[in-house]
This record gives sequence, C-alpha cells and structure tokens, in this order.
Amino acid sequence: MCGIIGVASKKEQAIPMILQGLKTLEYRGYDSSGIAYFKENQIVITKTKGRISDLEQQINFKETSSLGIGHTRWATHGEANQVNAHPHQVGKITIVHNGIIENYQELKAKLQENGYSFLSSTDTEVACALLDFYYEKTNSVTQAIQAFIHEAKGSYAIGLLCQEEPDTLYAIKKDSPLIVAASNDTNFIASDIPAVLEYTSSYYVLEDEEYAILTKDHITFYDKGGKVLTKEEKHYDASLESPNKGSYPHYMIKEMMEQPDTIWKTMQPFLENGLASLAKLPDLTKYDRIDIVACGTAWHAGLVGKYFLEEYAAIPVDVCLASEYRYKRLFLSPKVLVIFISQSGETADTLAALKRVKEEACHTLGIINVKDSSIARVVDQVIYTKAGCEIAVASTKAFTAQVAILLLLALQAAYQKNLMEEKQVLAVIEEFKHLKDHLTPLLAKRSEYQKIAKELYKQEDIFYLGRGLDYDLMMEGALKLKEISYIPSVCYAAGELKHGTISLVQEETRVIASCTNPLLDPKTMSNLKETKARGAKIYLITNNVELTKDKDIDSVFLLDQTSEFLVPFLVIIPLQFLAYKIALLRQCDIDKPRNLAKAVTVE
Ligand code: G6P
Repeated sequence: MCGIIGVASKKEQAIPMILQGLKTLEYRGYDSSGIAYFKENQIVITKTKGRISDLEQQINFKETSSLGIGHTRWATHGEANQVNAHPHQVGKITIVHNGIIENYQELKAKLQENGYSFLSSTDTEVACALLDFYYEKTNSVTQAIQAFIHEAKGSYAIGLLCQEEPDTLYAIKKDSPLIVAASNDTNFIASDIPAVLEYTSSYYVLEDEEYAILTKDHITFYDKGGKVLTKEEKHYDASLESPNKGSYPHYMIKEMMEQPDTIWKTMQPFLENGLASLAKLPDLTKYDRIDIVACGTAWHAGLVGKYFLEEYAAIPVDVCLASEYRYKRLFLSPKVLVIFISQSGETADTLAALKRVKEEACHTLGIINVKDSSIARVVDQVIYTKAGCEIAVASTKAFTAQVAILLLLALQAAYQKNLMEEKQVLAVIEEFKHLKDHLTPLLAKRSEYQKIAKELYKQEDIFYLGRGLDYDLMMEGALKLKEISYIPSVCYAAGELKHGTISLVQEETRVIASCTNPLLDPKTMSNLKETKARGAKIYLITNNVELTKDKDIDSVFLLDQTSEFLVPFLVIIPLQFLAYKIALLRQCDIDKPRNLAKAVTVE
C-alpha cells in the first residue's frame, strides 16, 4: 500500500510533478499525504490528513523546486493524521516509506537509548531515525543505507533526502515495489511506472536490498554492499493504458464497460488460430495436482478456475488464500503446479507465498496483469492478462481477464486429455469469439440494474447464494458489494444455509442467487424457497427460462443460453452493476472505498 514518488529534475517543476504522480498513485492508499522538497537548500515539508486534493490546498505553488519526494498513505502503524503522515524527518534525514519495518519496536528502544525521541506512532519515523543515527556516525548517506539494509527487518520502498545534499535523491528497496525512471530532463523514483508515464516510459527495476542514487543528470544503482550494478533499461508498453475516466463518472464503471474488449484481448493470442494457438498455453496435464494461490478477487477467479479444471480437465485443484498458504504445511513435489494470480503482481502475501514455493522443487505459473511486476519476475512462467490499467479499487475487468486465462487452460488440458473432443473445443472457441454479442446487451441493461438497486440500497444486509460455479461467482458479487457500498453481504453455498446462517433470514431479507447449472438448479431453488418461506425477497440470475416462471422469485435477470465456459462472464455483469449502482445510491466513494487500497503491499 502507500504510493511514493521522488523527482530530481533539471527543471524547477518538482512540486507539480510530485503532485501529479501522487494523484496517479492515490489508488494505493489515500488517508493522508505529504511532500518534501528542497527550497534554497532547506527541506520544506507539507503533509496532511485526507486526499491529495487536501494536500494541494496547503501547498504554496509560488515556490519552485527541482528535487523532492511525495507520499500517499494507507495507515499501518498509527491512525491517519497529520503527525503520522509522511514524509518523516529525523535530524538530517527525511524519508517517505511504503512497507512495514517489522523490528521497529526493538530499533526504537535502541534509538531511544541513544537519545532519539519520537513524535509519531509510525514504524517509518523509526526507520528515519535509524538512517539518521548511522548518518551521524559515518557522515555518509550510503553507509547509513547499507547499515539500514543490514539491520531493518520487513519491507520497505524508501525515498530519502539528506539535508546536506540538496542535489541528491536516494531510493532503497526490499519487498515493496520501487522503480527508477528517466526522462530527458528528470529522473524519478516511483511505486509504479504509471505514476511517471506522463514524462517517460523507460525505467529500471530496483530489486530487494538494492539502492539507487539519483541526481538530475545521473542514476547509479548499488547492491547492499555498495557494489555498482548495471541494470537493464525497460520500456513500458503504454498501449494498453487508459489513464483517464473518459466520459464515465467513475473508473469502476469505465472498467466494467471495457470488459468485452479486455476479455477478448486476453484470450485472442490463444484463440486466433484455433487449436494451434491454444497449444501455446502451458501443458497442465503433466501435473497430478494444482495449487492456486491468490488474494481477494484474484482468489475468486482461482475458485472459478478450479471448477473448470476439475470438471472439464479432471485435474484436482486446491485454491488457497495467500495469507494462509504462506504459513501452512505444503505438500509440494515436481508433480504439483502452483499458480499465482494477481492483478497488481505486488500483493505482499502472494509474493511471500511465491518466494516460499520457489524454495521447493515445483513449477510456478503466474497469471498477472501488471507487466514486470514483482510476482511476474519471480514465477517460472507468466501469462499476462490484458486488462490494461485497472484503477478502481474494486476489481472488475482484471477478474474477468484472470477467469479468461483459467478457462483457456482448462479447455486446453481437457482437450489434451481427450476429455473434450476437437469439435467441442472448437465450438467453445467459436463461442468465445462471439462473447461480446452476449456481453454488450447485458452491459446495456442499466435501467434494470438501477431499478433493483433502488430496492436494495437501504438494506442492512444482503444474502448471496449459489451452488458450484454459481457459488464461486456469488462470492465475488458479495465482495464487490461490501467493498464499495459497505452493506454486509453474506455469501453462502445454498445447501449449507440451513446449517446455521438461515437463522439470519427474516421478513424482507433480500437474497441474490444464481442458477446456471441444470443439475444443481432444482436444489438451489429449494433452498431459495426455504428463505422465501421465512419472508425473504429473491433476485435470481439465471439462463434457465423455466425458472423465471416460478412465482416465488421476485425479480429475474435472464442471461443468454451459452456453453458453461461463458457463464462466469455473464453472471458477473449484473453482480458488478448491482454493487456499483447500490454504492452510487448510497453516495459512497466508489473508486476509493474506505479503508481499502488497490495494491496491498503489506502483510
Ligand atoms: C486488494 C484489492 C482487491 C484485490 C486484492 C488482490 O485487496 O483491493 O481488489 O483483489 O488486493 O490483489 P492482486 O493485485 O494480487 O490481484
């Protein structure tokens, strides 16, 4: 979480450049923000609780600077307030930090014994004091950085200014993302490349326990021992980017509407030449078992993947939350494939789980959206989703792109194992090619979603039910609702409801369910009737016309009849829309929901 940026420029434009970068990084955290820059050899710091727009109101735009750092925060240690906001300054050192210093209590005690006192509750102020402590001892920032890397435990991406070096910007990195970028007249550090894309698309990746020294003319990279490193210059493909909202009021709705294109872009390389293209996918039939590891929405995509890999390709799959997987006992061997799914490619738990698996003798595959992100660089093999830049915290188009890759993997494995005949596979491919024809009308039913949203937005809770694939998709629907509308939404496997949770159902309880599997639909319908008998109102998403005639159903979203391979893309659209429209009616901050951040780079 947290976004950081630093600028060393030949122009006196550092302040607007930093603020512009912070606005792009705001999706990483937005409870407070701050900036520090050199003005006539003195460091000026402005920081505040709230959004970048609040910070801007406090900036003196008459001042100019050519070198500075900025930060947008997602609080970990200490509440969101002005004192805890970054930058932090201790002695001659000023820093912005993304990550968590795990041994900060121990370091704080040691520094207190050495005369340091602290104003904030943050681990960052302790990191800053540690750097100052070593700077005072050695009179060298680089020696202070080397000592810091040796002593600090945890994760950090740090931008650093030293009071006595007004022409120099330092960057340090471990387990939190940090790139260094260069344009003709300015050198940058940033949490991600889109933050500086307005100025340059060429960049370098800092690896763990490396640091960099930037001036307006030079960039030099070092390992933790101070050895100079040569780095490959990378170029960011900005063609997929859609950095503004266009005519849409929110990124979320824009990203939802992009889905017909982003799903197709993701699938196209594996479909354009029929079976030959599909064969470009990794061969999953080599493995006895697959573990899928992810967080949040990506974990839900994993559940959908499990359904198809098991049902169609007969490969057993476990889907694990990365935060659990990284600590649990693992049963790995060369016959197990571990798939890591992540939009950002930076999620701390997923990355940590991956690093753990890399120590074992088994193959790792990433399904990642952000090119060259940390997870993409560590996995043995990566398949990129082509969702483009996803800005809204609530993930939509990244989810459907992740599902798209998993469906293709299942299709290919089913074909290889002769569990699907060639003509069946070709028929599914043909349907994928026409997916847009099914999605476009669904995306256009805005007044229908609005009508239902009006019936739901004042609810204190909403239930989501389903079985099998429908259950997986309902979980994602329920997550979307709680993320952006703050309505507690309980998602249950329909058959499990009566083992406890049905006690919550009462008169006027609202239940959203989907029924898209002819074998399971009668079972789910019985469960829905059990809720109806207790006063619930039922909203059903189905592709089964017969079910629409049931008088116990209060409202129906009827989907086109398609192969099951298309069902996840169709069911999810009404669920995304309901969450969006309900949040809108509740006047929530849709793209920046409270307490959340897009890239969770802390444990
Ligand atoms: C955060 C985001 C979610 C996302 C999850 C995993 O919680 O708010 O939208 O699904 O992280 O992120 P990843 O980038 O690994 O897919």
